[in-house]
Order: sequence, then C-alpha cells, then structure tokens
Amino acid sequence: MVERPRGTRDLDPAYLSRHRHVEGAFRRTAESFGFREVLPPTFESLELFHRKAGPGIEAEMYAFKDKSGRDLVLRPEFTAGVLRHYVNDLRNAPKPIKQYSMGPVFRYEEPQKGRYREFWQYSCEAIGGAPLDADAETVALAVQSIRNAGVRQTETRIGHIGMLRAFLKVDREAQARILHALDKRNFGKLHEELDAGGLLDVEGTLRELIGIRGGPEALAKASDLLGGVGSEGFEHLRRVRDRLAAYGIRDGVVFDMGIIRGLAYYTGMVFQIHSPNLGAEDQVCGGGSYALAELFGGDPIFSTGFAIGTDRIVLASEVEGVAVPPPKLDAYVIPIGDSVRTRAFEIAANLRATGLTIDIDLVGRGPSKNLDYANAIGARWAVLVGEKELANGKVALRNMEAGEQREVAVDELASVLGMDKPAFDVEFH
Ligand code: HAM
Repeated sequence: MVERPRGTRDLDPAYLSRHRHVEGAFRRTAESFGFREVLPPTFESLELFHRKAGPGIEAEMYAFKDKSGRDLVLRPEFTAGVLRHYVNDLRNAPKPIKQYSMGPVFRYEEPQKGRYREFWQYSCEAIGGAPLDADAETVALAVQSIRNAGVRQTETRIGHIGMLRAFLKVDREAQARILHALDKRNFGKLHEELDAGGLLDVEGTLRELIGIRGGPEALAKASDLLGGVGSEGFEHLRRVRDRLAAYGIRDGVVFDMGIIRGLAYYTGMVFQIHSPNLGAEDQVCGGGSYALAELFGGDPIFSTGFAIGTDRIVLASEVEGVAVPPPKLDAYVIPIGDSVRTRAFEIAANLRATGLTIDIDLVGRGPSKNLDYANAIGARWAVLVGEKELANGKVALRNMEAGEQREVAVDELASVLGMDKPAFDVEFH
C-alpha cells in the first residue's frame, strides 16, 4: 500500500459535486462582475516569491530544482503569477484588468481540519482601478461570491495595513518581519524585531491598535490612538463601507485594526471573511490592495484582490446545509444475453446523444445482479434489452424507485426518460 502524502486528500464524487457547485457559483459571480478567467502555471520560478511573499509563506513553499537545476516552486497562491503575467504581457491592455483564477495551490503547513498542503483557491485581482472603487468592488465580489455559494453566516473584517506601515519606518524586509510577528500575535518576537529596528517606542500603540474592532466608533478610537497618523486610511475605510451599502452589503461588516494578513505585499486596505462554523481555521477569504507589479519590473499600479479558500467554503456550505444537485443518472441499460449486446450499446449511444445520462453494463452480469447494481449507482430507470421485446422494436423499462416495469418502443425511450426529470432549483441570489 502506498499512502497519500500528508496534507493531501482524495476528493470523492460526493465532495466534488459540492466543490464544483461552489466553484460554479464563484465563476458566475466573477463573470457577472466583469472579471475574466486567467490561469498562470502551477509551478513558477522561485524568484517570483523569494523575498516578496513574506516570511510566513516563504517558509511554507514547496520549492525544488528541476532536472536542469532551475529553482522552481509549486504556486502557494495565484496573485504573484497573475501580476507577473500582467507585467510580462498585459501592461498596455486597457485598464482596469479584472481577472479571476481557480485551482489548487500548495503550502507546507501543519495539516488539520480545513488546513491542507494542497488546497483550492478562487482568487480575483483588479489591476489599475481607482482605490475606492476597486477596493469596494473587490470586497463586494468576495462577499457576493460566498453568498451565491449559499453560505450566509460570515463576518467581513476590514482593516488597513497602510496605517501600521506608517509607524514602521524601517526597510521592507524588517517591516515584513514585524508584521509577521504581529499577525501571529507573537509578542516576544515582536519586541525583538521592534528593538532591532529602534522602534520600541511604538510597541504599546501597535499592540493596542490591533485589538480595536467594531463599527465607525472603532475607527474613531483607532484614529485617536494614532493621533493623526494614517487619517487618510481611516477615511478610506469609512468610504469603502458606505460604498458597500450600494451593493446591498450592510450587515456582517466590521472594521478590524488587527487584520495584518500573512503575505507581505499589502499596502492599503486589507480584509478577511470568517465563518463562525469552522473552528480554528475559520478564515474563508483574505485580500486587500497591494504593490507587486513594481517588484516584477513593471510601473507601480493600484491593485487589489482576494482569494477565497474553496475547501473552507465547501465545509461551511455543508455545515449550513446548503443543498447541492444530486448526481444524475437517468438510466442504466441492461443487455439480456450476448445476442443483444451490440444493439444495447447502440440504444445507449442514441440516448446519450439526446443529452440523457446513461450507464450500461460493462461486465456481462445477469439481469438480477444488474438490477442490484443499477440500484447501487442510483439509476432512476433500468432499460432491459431482451431479444423477444427487441423483435417488436421494444424494451422493458423499469422505474427503479417504484419497482414498476412496462414495455416501451425503442423510438419513444428518449422522450419517456426525458419526461419527469427531477427538477433541482439552485438557490441563487
Ligand atoms: P491567503 O489569506 O494566504 O491569501 O489565502 C486565502 C485563503 O486561502 C484563506 O483565507 C483561506 O481560506 C485559504 N487557505 C489558506 N491556507 C490554506 C490551507 N492550508 N488549507 C486550506 N485553505 C487555506 C492569498 O493567498 C492572497 N493571494 C489573496 C490575495 C489575492 N490578495 C490579493 N489578491
């Protein structure tokens, strides 16, 4: 027996039908906001992330050398790849560029429920918008995508990393280490890093600031604490919240000065969406505005985006009891005897061509074993193809649920099977 690598999963059909349902809602929502799909490669040059992603992600990367000795990495996220593609190929395209990606990403983390080494992201980037408009549009897309996947119980927490950075007058890498310690609430490390940067005088303020959370009063409190530093940031957050109301997003949004984010490239507004139903790994979305294009050789351009952890939305949708379409198998075709096998496959092919979902016996079982199998795989009907009936242009059609059987002309099979299909209305708001 060969074991699965730690932190990976075999996604079975039941899980995947929920997963694809969630991805379908994400895709429809992104397209409805005018975002278009883009897919950077699964592996990238190590230098795309090295000293750019930040100490958290850098330590978790699946980095390796290929046979020519190139340093590569399995993508730990989409944003850097999408921005690399923008700088390489799309610099002159009309702005803003609104793109989304979906697929697996890889991080060497300690696995637990909702935290895997291979997990799926739905990631959206708006490149080249105006800050208020693009920030609000992006948060609104994240919230609406999750709603459209049927998940209702969430809290959106919006903060501003620019205000924290304004205090940290040290180089980018030292800032990244300080913010990483703050993000992890590792106050011992924070003290060390601030000491190294000669910033011990702001330690108390920083620690107080990251505990401030709530409505507009929280912004006022944070603003008082900072005594004028970062006032533009507070105003920006107030406006983002007002704009969100225009999208119909009013409830479940709070300001949170403690949102730091695990990646080093954020510069302005940052946000996270949390589900109360997921235990320790409750963060279903993270994002914000960032500066990456200039790190890849492009001009600075306002960019903002987010990624949703698809697996966590799948878990949340399960907990919240969101209905997903059941697997569909209209009929299972059972040839009775060798003489009719070829004709049975032809009947199955013709039914499939009409859009029906049809399975057929591939092992030559007897009729009663085949009916058991049809039951086990959830077929709605069994089509029994026998020599005698075929001679009259007919087959026996069995309703698997009712157990009733009748003869139907082969020519009428498609229309009989096509009728009374179970309707499934997906809740879509
Ligand atoms: P991130 O916060 O690192 O942001 O990841 C986004 C989401 O991926 C998290 O909120 C979480 O739901 C999910 N996630 C992270 N790690 C795991 C894991 N080990 N297992 C399962 N799910 C996980 C980014 O990746 C940024 N690229 C987001 C972004 C886009 N910012 C701007 N544009």
